[in-house]
Amino acid sequence: MGAAISMVSLLFMFFLLLTIPVRAQRTRTETSTTDFIFKGFTGNETEIQTAETARIKPDGLLRLTDRNPNVTGTAFYHKPVRLLDQNSTVGSFSTSFVFVIIPTSSSNGGFGFTFTLSPTPNRTGAESAQYLGLLNKDNDGDPRNHVFAVEFDTVQGFNDVVDRTGNHIGLNFNDLTSEFQEPVIYYANHDRKEDFTLQSGEPIQALLDYDGPTQTLNFTVYPAESKSKPVRPLILRRPVPKLSEIVQEEMYVGFTAATGKDQSSAHYVMGWSFSSGGEHPLAQPLNLSELPRAPPNTAKKGKYNPQVLSLIVALSGVTLILLALLFFFVVYKKRLQEGEILEDWEINHPHRLRYKDLYAATEGFKEYRIIGTGGFGTVYRGSISTSSSDQIAVKKITPNSMQGVREFVAEIESLGRLRHKNLVNLQGWCKHKNDLLLIYDYIPNGSLDSLLYSKPRQSGAVLSWNARFQIAKGIASGLLYLHEEWEKIVIHRDVKPSNVLIESNMNPRLGDFGLARLYERGSQSHTTVVVGTIGYMAPELTRNGNSSSASDVYAFGVLLLEIVSGRRPTDSGTFFLADWVMELYASGEILPAVDPRLGSAYDGGEAKLALSVGLLCCHQRPASRPSMRTVLRYMNGDEDVPEIDDHWGYSDSSRSDFGSKFEGYVSSDKASSSVASFSVTRNSSSSVISGR
Ligand SMILES: *[C@@H]1O[C@H](CO)[C@@H](O)[C@H](O)[C@H]1NC(C)=O
Ligand SMILES: *[C@@H]1O[C@H](CO)[C@@H](O)[C@H](O)[C@H]1NC(C)=O
Ligand SMILES: *[C@@H]1O[C@H](CO)[C@@H](O)[C@H](O)[C@H]1NC(C)=O
Ligand SMILES: *[C@@H]1O[C@H](CO)[C@@H](O)[C@H](O)[C@H]1NC(C)=O
Ligand SMILES: *[C@@H]1O[C@H](CO)[C@@H](O)[C@H](O)[C@H]1NC(C)=O
Ligand SMILES: *[C@@H]1O[C@H](CO)[C@@H](O)[C@H](O)[C@H]1NC(C)=O
Repeated sequence: MGAAISMVSLLFMFFLLLTIPVRAQRTRTETSTTDFIFKGFTGNETEIQTAETARIKPDGLLRLTDRNPNVTGTAFYHKPVRLLDQNSTVGSFSTSFVFVIIPTSSSNGGFGFTFTLSPTPNRTGAESAQYLGLLNKDNDGDPRNHVFAVEFDTVQGFNDVVDRTGNHIGLNFNDLTSEFQEPVIYYANHDRKEDFTLQSGEPIQALLDYDGPTQTLNFTVYPAESKSKPVRPLILRRPVPKLSEIVQEEMYVGFTAATGKDQSSAHYVMGWSFSSGGEHPLAQPLNLSELPRAPPNTAKKGKYNPQVLSLIVALSGVTLILLALLFFFVVYKKRLQEGEILEDWEINHPHRLRYKDLYAATEGFKEYRIIGTGGFGTVYRGSISTSSSDQIAVKKITPNSMQGVREFVAEIESLGRLRHKNLVNLQGWCKHKNDLLLIYDYIPNGSLDSLLYSKPRQSGAVLSWNARFQIAKGIASGLLYLHEEWEKIVIHRDVKPSNVLIESNMNPRLGDFGLARLYERGSQSHTTVVVGTIGYMAPELTRNGNSSSASDVYAFGVLLLEIVSGRRPTDSGTFFLADWVMELYASGEILPAVDPRLGSAYDGGEAKLALSVGLLCCHQRPASRPSMRTVLRYMNGDEDVPEIDDHWGYSDSSRSDFGSKFEGYVSSDKASSSVASFSVTRNSSSSVISGR
């Protein structure tokens, strides 16, 4: 009996042991809560059960479908959620998620996705397109499905008649025809409803709260980047008693999505929180800034897939940059050529003028603006304004080489400060392509050359003796200023009639000083370059090429003889003015050298003086020539002119010295000739002499 009792008690104990865990398990089930939050899905591959095209991307986004046609994708939380309580009523739950829908093109997205309560995470047999990866044409509407879904539909309707709008949310019970649907809007405030597009490519937040005791739900959807949460849900306290027919002991929560044959979108979930169990479960809020970065929004960019699109963007970007570079290069090149862009050394020169202005002043260097071709270039008359006093002379020079220009310009900068009543005022300069432009005061009367020789003489008048003498003294005074009176010694290098401009009051102004230097500098160093004008070049120049104030004096002497006699320094090669005057001087009868056109209208004493001084200046030996200061003293009668010594003249040998090997840039002086200058490279003296 005792054994029987102990058997009974043992059995009882066994029963107890057996039942306690069972009871305990039941209790746990009834009070089960689920609570999770995914701020992105990195590392949660085991917590999320994906199928078909659904993937957790390396960047943490849960992608349900890509944009391939006719695909489905599902993703469920790996553990079932127990929603039924003791009385078999559906307990409260709350969920929140942020999603992005990126269509292939704004008009061609599809089909949509759902938030789903499903008895299984395996939606085997679910179809694409309007079945949203949730059901298929055979089981659609079947009460045995036990699925509840909130659908986010981006395509015009499952049954065209029923789901008319392509941008709506719907509540579905076992059936993809929504029992209830709403167009997508949110309440920005109590009076204002804002609509927006699900497939905008922008993050969108959805909140679903179900209240078990009242069997109602609230649903809110709004652009996640909007400033604040909507003031009220889109669906408010909607009774959903049908849910109790759906929900089973164990339900899986998750998402399904699908694309269609012609309409497809990529569906992403960026973050998801869920809470169930208890009186008022509330899904933890999702903060957009804590979620992974939204996928690149290509929703508005047309039909191309992102790779092609980014390739196109990159290529067109590169092309644009190249085109822009090319454009700027061409413009720069052009402006550089036009002289609008300055080389370093050109900046900081106060006398540099703008080519544009000069171009305008000379009307684009029109031919009728040419007032002379001589010396080293062509001279144009320019008008800075309509006033006649604002006239300029623009000398356009094309140096054989630009090498020397820089040094020359530096010199011009100081020459620009030269101020004398017998010097042409240099206003400035400008470099343009291969041209150097020098800007002078405009002297209307023309050059001494034209006054002395111009064949079709307008007035018919011969330049009077007084004017000639005054001009000669003026030139001497200008040269004196250059040689001795200014801060630096300036050698003119090209004294000749065409470089003497005459003002209306017969005041001469010497121009082009220093210009010949440009040609000396531009030359190669291994050759000696002689620059000047044949007939005015001192004999020593042909030997050593060194210009000096004495060589200027020589040229002045020739010029002086020329002014008095009205004859050019040399002609075809047999006549030499200085030799001719010297012969007359030697014969004791110098006055026949005076310009016969003057007749007797000249001062014999002055003429004799001028001729003697001219001869003195033309002395073969530089050291024997007077300085310009002495020349002026002679001409002003402050000092007597000495006798000319025996070594004055050229010997035959000295003349053949002219033939020493040199390269010469020689400017022609013939006013009637339009050939302004020529350069010669030759070895024989005769050809140089006959060169003009
Ligand atoms: C997701 O994964 C992260 C990292 O592994 C983990 O810390 C987190 O708890 C997971 N979240 C859920 C809801 O399981
Ligand atoms: C979609 O794909 C399924 C198989 O994945 C295939 O049976 C069906 O015919 C396809 N539908 C269309 C419209 O391409
Ligand atoms: C279960 O149902 C009974 C009667 O309908 C009710 O009194 C009780 O509060 C319910 N329990 C819960 C947990 O809802
Ligand atoms: C879902 O399917 C997978 C493989 O097809 C299987 O291993 C798993 O047990 C299934 N899960 C459920 C809840 O049916
Ligand atoms: C639904 O929204 C209303 C108003 O905001 C609120 O009173 C109610 O508790 C909400 N219901 C749920 C289930 O959150
Ligand atoms: C979201 O997170 C950021 C940074 O962590 C924080 O500054 C901001 O206040 C948060 N917003 C909300 C609504 O919690």
